[in-house]
Amino acid sequence: MSFGTGKIWMNGSLVDWADAKIHIGSHVVHYGSAVFEGARCYETSRGTACFRIDAHLERLFDSCKIYRMEPGLTYDEIHGAVLETIRANQYKACYIRPIIYRGYHTLGVNPLPCPVDAAILLWEWGAYLGQDALTNGVDVCVSSWSRAAANTFPTLAKTSANYANSTLIKMEAMVEGYSEGIALDTAGYLSEGSGQNLFLVRNDVIYTPPVTASILPGITRDSVITLAQDLGFKVREEMLPRELLYIADEAFFVGTAVEVTPIKSVDKMAIGNGRRGPITEAIQQAFFDIVTGRVDDRHGWLEYVYDGEPREAVAAAPRAARA
Ligand SMILES: Cc1ncc(COP(=O)(O)O)c(C=O)c1O
Repeated sequence: MSFGTGKIWMNGSLVDWADAKIHIGSHVVHYGSAVFEGARCYETSRGTACFRIDAHLERLFDSCKIYRMEPGLTYDEIHGAVLETIRANQYKACYIRPIIYRGYHTLGVNPLPCPVDAAILLWEWGAYLGQDALTNGVDVCVSSWSRAAANTFPTLAKTSANYANSTLIKMEAMVEGYSEGIALDTAGYLSEGSGQNLFLVRNDVIYTPPVTASILPGITRDSVITLAQDLGFKVREEMLPRELLYIADEAFFVGTAVEVTPIKSVDKMAIGNGRRGPITEAIQQAFFDIVTGRVDDRHGWLEYVYDGEPREAVAAAPRAARA
């Protein structure tokens, strides 16, 4: 059983999907000591383009720094490796998973003696919650699990360890018959879904929890805030009480995997009229227009992959990588 094919980049070499293996004694297997990214490249009208790969790699370097991991690769090297791996696999559109992990040396909790290894996996990933979800929305619940408290598991780092919490949220939701769960932070304010950020709309104002609400600071979240402001909407990042969900006019998830997915009900209560709302639809449209190249890439978010495609959007190395 394999969900992928082709080549995986591992520590500088391209290896066959089936051969991309690590030792069972690797630190990461026992202690979740990895940081990773999830990005996408899209098939646009002008060729294959990565969406905000610079911002994703900046967050990867931030995650490394928080966890005292020295990746042994410069920003340019990992950026180049992402493009090389897409080209080697000849993907037109795919999900991009760079991961930096503590490898095989000893199994004490202290990770510092272990090597820091890196890999880049790619696979084809359509609509994460199903194509129908993008139009008709998803039914979700508020999870009985909270997001990690401040100063426990740092949520600004996209570390594998944090996904133990995500899997609890996701499994509970699935077993109860929902598509997703929304977690609160430990103070009881809205935080995020198991793998996506949350937005609400009420009286034409768009709300999203701030980075202090135990969220991963999503690249899609940041893009959606920009696009909503481009469309003239007010966006407020503030602590939000749970019950605002139930009385919202609209709600939606955003993330690399879910892209922009409407929420039609929470805890079996319809959001608004129980269908995708007009502001959600406008933002969804603005997002897909950009990522598929239907409109001008005015924010410089696309980086084309193959020779002969436009290259103007190549971003400068981000702050974390320049340091
Ligand atoms: C917990 C969590 N929150 C939010 C997001 C959305 O982040 P991004 O838009 O950068 O994919 C993700 C996706 O990786 C996630 O796993």
